Amino acid sequence: MSDNSNAIESVLTETRKFPPPAEFTKHAMISSEQQYEEMWNRAKDDPAGFWGDIAQNELDWFQMYDSVMEGDMPETKWFTGGKINASYNCLDRHLLTWRKNKAAIIWEGEPGDTRTLTYQQLHHEVCKFASVLDKLGIEAGDRVTLYMPMVPELAIAMLACARVGATHSIIFGGFSADAIRDRNNDAQSKLVITADGGWRRGKEIPLKATVDDALADGKSPSVEKVVVVRRTGGDVSMEDGRDLWWHDLMEDAVADRECTHLDSEHPLFILYTSGSTGKPKGVLHTTAGYLLGTMMTSRWVFDFKDEDTYWCTADIGWITGHSYIVYGPLANGVTTMMYEGAPNWPDEGRFWDIVEKHKVNTFYTAPTAIRAFIKWGDNWPQQHDLSSLRLLGTVGEPINPEAWMWYHKTIGAEKCPIVDTWWQTETGGIMLSPLPGVTATKPGSCTKPLPGVVPAIVSEQGEPLEANQGGLLVMTQPWPHMLRTLYGDHDRFIETYFSKFDGKYYFAGDGARRDEDGYYWVMGRVDDVINVSGHRLSTMEVESALVSHESVAEAAVVGFPHDLKGEGICCFVIPKGEIATGDALEAAQKELIAHVRQQIGALATPDQIRFTAALPKTRSGKIMRRLLRDIAAGRESAGDTTTLEDYSVLASLRESDEG
Ligand code: WTA
Repeated sequence: MSDNSNAIESVLTETRKFPPPAEFTKHAMISSEQQYEEMWNRAKDDPAGFWGDIAQNELDWFQMYDSVMEGDMPETKWFTGGKINASYNCLDRHLLTWRKNKAAIIWEGEPGDTRTLTYQQLHHEVCKFASVLDKLGIEAGDRVTLYMPMVPELAIAMLACARVGATHSIIFGGFSADAIRDRNNDAQSKLVITADGGWRRGKEIPLKATVDDALADGKSPSVEKVVVVRRTGGDVSMEDGRDLWWHDLMEDAVADRECTHLDSEHPLFILYTSGSTGKPKGVLHTTAGYLLGTMMTSRWVFDFKDEDTYWCTADIGWITGHSYIVYGPLANGVTTMMYEGAPNWPDEGRFWDIVEKHKVNTFYTAPTAIRAFIKWGDNWPQQHDLSSLRLLGTVGEPINPEAWMWYHKTIGAEKCPIVDTWWQTETGGIMLSPLPGVTATKPGSCTKPLPGVVPAIVSEQGEPLEANQGGLLVMTQPWPHMLRTLYGDHDRFIETYFSKFDGKYYFAGDGARRDEDGYYWVMGRVDDVINVSGHRLSTMEVESALVSHESVAEAAVVGFPHDLKGEGICCFVIPKGEIATGDALEAAQKELIAHVRQQIGALATPDQIRFTAALPKTRSGKIMRRLLRDIAAGRESAGDTTTLEDYSVLASLRESDEG
């Protein structure tokens, strides 16, 4: 954890505290410390009673479950014996209320086109596409890959999958053909849903062509059909017998597809995320627990009001979009915004233009975006009326206190509480976060656990630590929306999350401390996962991409502090031949950068490629990553280097820094 020493220092000196504005508290759903504590204590002492009451009152069941929870972590099953459908809970049940004609999704495309779908209209489209899935032979339990832009059809496809019980596997549009192929094969997907393209900074991202590449030459043999949404109107080649247009299929589809009654533990989706080894992990979430968790956490944290326009700026390709654009808000009958494109198109004021135009009340984004807003200058938000905003949120990485203060002042006009939400793909929903009407916030702290979440800070040996001692963040009790397994690899699931503390705790992979007020300060990953612009990447994944290039003998990849991205990607590479110089050096660097982008995707674009003749290793041959991190960050290494195989390696790496 030594590489996080700077972060630890800066948050240790942070003493500012911001109580929730009285006006906010007055109207908040959870409005007192006592109310929070009662909920939290009950959930801790009697989780079955706590979650059971909520599940009965808040979810619609086709058949009531027999037991709320069964078995100990990591094998806890929730609501067994129950029959339910997520699509029903997000759509059908709202049609029986006044929400029938309420906006479910307000969508804005990057070119400025907009579309609003009421609950009724969304339901209609979802029913139609569900019947299309039937026609295509998709059955409950089959896997369907979605590689789509941020268009309403993405949400429609998700909810249609949920309706028929197909398990969706969404792949973020920034991933490459090779990444799609690997995920298709791991999940054994039968169907891919994509679009001709999507808009990004005025350019067309060629999604269908990338899918073609992923499927070419039998590379994804399980895939039988491809459904293509027409979005950009760009040229695509349609393969006879395999590729079908969305609009053709929908033309004669009937909107009468009822929901399949599914077991509570039926797999709702797989979402691949980076782990500390090269191979992405297929995090599996199931139906009832995930739905309940995302519904309740979003209601508590975002203090939903029926008149809210709620906007989470994430891409649905990540867990944040799954839980807090689609399932959580829709289960609550809230209006959720969806925006297709970049924050700086056609100019840097785009997000504020959307806030003003749609009178957004709650705005949820990532610290990396906030740092970009700061860099672009205050005049962009100042040109817009942001007075509709009531609540602000962040997710994805630690927020530096300066960025928090800017967000508070410049966007929130010092009247909006900020919810800094800590959670993970694996946790399914928010775990640590302020409750906006209750918790006094401290810039940089995600404050306290939500009801049902019982965290601890422990040492490497699993001993509980005192206040203000840095350690490892673990969860000591199961929660309904936790991952159930890694798809097709249950052993790896146990090994990754539960083996470190003999099955007793869920190990999150983050370092953190709890202060004297019981507030949590998450420092960042303690494994080989880096957080680049709020996107999780494994350094090993980038390393395997590099060594798959013919010119590379060995590679080591580390993160380094980056003003905008949070962490940048620095690659130390031992070439097979001589280290190039001058123009040839630049060409070699470019070539490797392009290679990594092709292997993983644009989101893994290296910031630095440093060629070196050797890598610093311990006597047992382990790469000394801490040292490389110090070099990449331009820090003098404070640690003990006496185990260094060869001091000259270190010296020459530093020199290459100056060159
Ligand atoms: C980091 C994103 C500090 C953390 C929802 C975690 C955070 C990883 C925060 C999960 C936060 C997320 N403060 N760190 N508020 N939120 N992280 O799976 O390191 O893409 O383990 O889920 O992001 O990333 P993932």
